[in-house]
Amino acid sequence: MAKVAGSRILGTGRFLPPRVVTNDDLARRFDTSDEWIQQRTGIRERRFSGPGEGTAYLAEQASRAALADAGMGKDEIDFIVVATLSPDHFFPGTSAFLQERLDLPGIGAMDVRTQCTGFVYALAVADSFVRTGQARRVLVVGAEVHSTGLDFTDSGRDVAVLFGDGAGAVVVGPTDDPQRGILTLRLHCDGRHARELWIEAPGSSIFPDRLHAGMLGEGRHYPSMNGKAVFKHAVERLPEVIGEALSDVGLGVADVDVLVPHQANMRINQAVAQRIGIDPEKVVHNIDRYGNTTAGSIPIALDEAREQGRIRDGSRVLIAAFGSGFTWASAFVRW
Ligand code: UT7
Repeated sequence: MAKVAGSRILGTGRFLPPRVVTNDDLARRFDTSDEWIQQRTGIRERRFSGPGEGTAYLAEQASRAALADAGMGKDEIDFIVVATLSPDHFFPGTSAFLQERLDLPGIGAMDVRTQCTGFVYALAVADSFVRTGQARRVLVVGAEVHSTGLDFTDSGRDVAVLFGDGAGAVVVGPTDDPQRGILTLRLHCDGRHARELWIEAPGSSIFPDRLHAGMLGEGRHYPSMNGKAVFKHAVERLPEVIGEALSDVGLGVADVDVLVPHQANMRINQAVAQRIGIDPEKVVHNIDRYGNTTAGSIPIALDEAREQGRIRDGSRVLIAAFGSGFTWASAFVRW
């Protein structure tokens, strides 16, 4: 297998399930309000999947869109990486179900489990595989279905208002131009904060049964979050990891054409933009329409930004994410 100079993104795609759920819709299910949600998070509405629309289904639609955008047939793909925290099943990975849906038997397929930074980690896998010749064209997908796993009662309201369903995908392939493509990636984790944003159960560390009826009553199968800790660490770690990517490529904030941050909370992204001193016009937001789609948020935003002409050939694109783990990561892409 031949080594190449680097990797680049050949196409992007996204899929959002059609069902729109507004803040007012949520306020009819538990004690919250459109005003509270918009003020604290910037979210106005999100999408929820319907019957038969699991994570692999969303991933398939986004993948087909990315392949079409790249002008490629599915048979040109030789590896699949799916980032998700909401797999169709406990095992095997959602990548296996996506591969089945795309009818690509035999090619390698794996899941990445790093939550909100999942897409950036998955991009790093694809970049490494393409650079080393392990694979030539990698389908990288971030996909989530949160709506079937949230606590839509007063006790889950802090989390339930944040998340939405959706998927984004890119195709990564080789480039001989060392000045173009994915120029750097930075990946971090600090597991000391693993329990600040997690789903505890079912889990193999729970003895003797990883799942029992009592857990359901206690709501241990729902996500739980220390929102203040997440916020505080996000606004510290994101500027750091953005600085690392910029220093790797020898550029400054003013050289960035577009910043695509993970869409967790509008206030986090505004605070980060202010701290690093980037022109707010250069920052991509879609949290108002989709909420936090975790691993889906960055590839969805990339695809929208391309569609809107904000990312064009030659654009300098900075990607940054923070989330459960805690994990945080960045990438710099010269489109
Ligand atoms: O990818 C990572 C995903 N997670 C995040 O990015 C979350 C980061 N954290 C945050 O965005 C914020 O911490 C939240 C938006 C989640 C919460 O904002 P906050 O300013 O930290 O609120 P809080 O938890 O301190 O709660 C303030 C009040 C509380 O009421 P009292 O005790 O002051 O009476 C909560 O019970 O707001 C109440 N509250 C709500 N009220 C209406 C909590 N959730 C809700 C809700 N609707 N959904």
